[in-house]
Amino acid sequence: MRVAVVTGANRGIGLEIARQLAQNGVHVILTARSDDAARAASESLKGQGIQTEPYPLDVTQPDTVLALSAHVIAEHGGLDILVNNAGIAMDGFNGEVARKTLDVNFFGALRVTEKLLPQMRAGGRIVLLSSGLADRRGMSKSLAAKFTDPHLTVAGLSSLMGKFVTDVAAGNHSAQGWPSSAYSVSKTGLNALALVLSRMLANDPRRILVNAVCPGWVQTAMGGAGASRTVEHGAETPVWAALLPDGGPSGGFYRDMEPASW
Ligand SMILES: NC(=O)c1ccc[n+]([C@@H]2O[C@H](COP(=O)([O-])OP(=O)(O)OC[C@H]3O[C@@H](n4cnc5c(N)ncnc54)[C@H](OP(=O)(O)O)[C@@H]3O)[C@@H](O)[C@H]2O)c1
Repeated sequence: MRVAVVTGANRGIGLEIARQLAQNGVHVILTARSDDAARAASESLKGQGIQTEPYPLDVTQPDTVLALSAHVIAEHGGLDILVNNAGIAMDGFNGEVARKTLDVNFFGALRVTEKLLPQMRAGGRIVLLSSGLADRRGMSKSLAAKFTDPHLTVAGLSSLMGKFVTDVAAGNHSAQGWPSSAYSVSKTGLNALALVLSRMLANDPRRILVNAVCPGWVQTAMGGAGASRTVEHGAETPVWAALLPDGGPSGGFYRDMEPASW
């Protein structure tokens, strides 16, 4: 049985991704910031006849990432699917909002991926929950080009994202070519991360596929009740990317299972 980790799976799109993956015969490690929240979500699925394994994970806390990584090896011997779903959209815009947003949305996903990647088995799949708001067109041309530079590395991308935070804190992000949205920059970073990781893994014998996906505008706490999509619809493309067959695409950004521009 394939084993998956889904982050931020106690509610919203993450919970629905966990549900759909489990329904597809995957053993899902349903993670949430607190043990109680993970257990409660797992229990709610159990009420629908769906088994998942609750586990605590805060993507901003390296010790919890380390504990999950040790658990995956000890209990499952490896991992097949990682869905980086945890995300926040904060009100306002200042240095603190930029730092916190990137810490969860970009660095959180990177932290978890870097710790779990060594444990991924052949045929592994990594999914990054991005957004239609990931858009390089809001940036200066020179900045936008850096995100798709074929020589960009994980370290280079991390320092680019760190520069956004320091530019916002210094009050000169506009002069440096950045848009005034930490959420947008964090998700643009995830699309670039899919590209960089897929290049890094191109010659890896495990044939791991990495893709960023947009769920659309979804009825969750983040998307609001007026959003156009149900969670079932929003989880469709992330689940598709998690279950891609061998030889499927890697390094892309998908919406409704089709390549999307960013
Ligand atoms: N809804 C939309 O319209 C939409 C559109 C485009 C993209 N997305 C993306 O889709 C993903 C899921 O969104 P959603 O609408 O389901 O949001 P949501 O209902 O607000 O759920 C967000 C989830 O992320 C978790 N989370 C936040 N910080 C975390 C941390 N430090 N460590 C671990 N988990 C953390 C939350 O846990 P707590 O319950 O503990 O806060 C919650 O489980 C996000 O990445 C979001 O950016 C959503």
